[in-house]
Amino acid sequence: MKTKKIAMLGGGFIGDFYTHTLHGQRRQDRVQVIYSRSEDSAKKIAERWNIPKWTTNMEEAINDPDIDTVVIALPNHLHLEAVKRSAEAGKAVLVTKPLGRNAQESKEMLELVEKHNVFHGYLEDLCYTPKTLKSLESIKNGALGDILWVRSRETHPGPHSDWFWNPEFSGGGAIIDLGCHCIEIARNFIGKEVKPLEVMCWADTQVKPIQAEDHAIALVKYASGAIGQFEVSWCFRGGMDLRDEVMGVEGTMFLNHFLRTGLEVFTAVGEGDYVAEKAESATGWLFPVGDEVNALGYDFMFTDMFDAIDEGRSPMEDFYDGYIVNAIIDACYKSSKSKKWEPVELDIWRGSDEIRKGPKMVEFDEKYYLIKEEILPNGSKKLILKDKANGEIIQREI
Ligand SMILES: NC(=O)c1ccc[n+]([C@@H]2O[C@H](COP(=O)([O-])OP(=O)(O)OC[C@H]3O[C@@H](n4cnc5c(N)ncnc54)[C@H](O)[C@@H]3O)[C@@H](O)[C@H]2O)c1
Repeated sequence: MKTKKIAMLGGGFIGDFYTHTLHGQRRQDRVQVIYSRSEDSAKKIAERWNIPKWTTNMEEAINDPDIDTVVIALPNHLHLEAVKRSAEAGKAVLVTKPLGRNAQESKEMLELVEKHNVFHGYLEDLCYTPKTLKSLESIKNGALGDILWVRSRETHPGPHSDWFWNPEFSGGGAIIDLGCHCIEIARNFIGKEVKPLEVMCWADTQVKPIQAEDHAIALVKYASGAIGQFEVSWCFRGGMDLRDEVMGVEGTMFLNHFLRTGLEVFTAVGEGDYVAEKAESATGWLFPVGDEVNALGYDFMFTDMFDAIDEGRSPMEDFYDGYIVNAIIDACYKSSKSKKWEPVELDIWRGSDEIRKGPKMVEFDEKYYLIKEEILPNGSKKLILKDKANGEIIQREI
């Protein structure tokens, strides 16, 4: 296991979370240099996490001879520039979500890291939560059969910094900020080799006085026939709601990652300011999260990234995934305006081109297919069958 020496670009909300993950437990990987826009915030985070060097010069952090890995935790409009400089410097590069503000930017980033042959990871933490990893393993082992529908929801009262609210810097509103998580969660459950075909999306600005959408719902149609559905909002009250549902031919899963997941506290007086990400109050009924960085997937994510570097393989999430997510988001924005299904335009596609034709028929006997069987309240069993020759649907009670 080789110790990673990291330049952390960005000392804001997520830079702090990432550094907490890396330095909070007994890991050997260290942030050696922190870059932040202001001297004050760079110094503060360096002191908080015992980081030897800080700078307000991005180039200096990337080119520091002591570092081998760059983690980009900057606002979305700076990802491309930071990736370009890191790839040219020959450093391994890990970027937070969303990879780009659109597919064009993501594609450029993917081409840059491939041209310079540097390791690239897409820091999509919500695909690495303990519950998601456990569920993905069960699905891989066939517990749910073929996946038909994934519903993924991320809603909260809105982001914590000015730049998120300006589409010029962020690339959009709740769809780009939260939908990117939901889309990639659904891709993991449906199968990343399955092509996303088209999108139908509703988006609106319901509450906040902004140009971008603060609420959206979308359906993403996949070549296997599966549907990915996402629900995202910056208007939701009561904290951060992160839930997924997966429906397969043979089973169902419900995942609740964050709100009301086991620790429920009532306090009339409070005991500190921070309860959990996006919590709206510090008194009354509270739902703190026991180990927030782990519940949100940051631990397993960095472990996979660094193991992948050591083993010379790709991580579970890389820039190609970030690019596909951006392409789906671009189609969402198109559909929300046209109010029609819009195709997902993929200049780069490395998965399967197979398209599902219809449902798999379940053989009952020589004459019939089985549609369904059910035990009735009177204890008898009812069979619904389809005649193979003429298509007639009949029922039989036994
Ligand atoms: N779950 C997650 O994976 C997750 C959660 C939150 C944010 N993010 C992502 O992390 C990135 C940073 O978000 P954040 O929440 O840390 O933001 P933030 O506003 O809290 O911090 C931004 C950091 O970038 C620095 N910076 C440098 N140039 C800047 C500029 N021109 N404008 C604004 N800041 C500048 C700031 O000094 C600050 O250190 C975004 O891409 C965001 O989508 C990911």
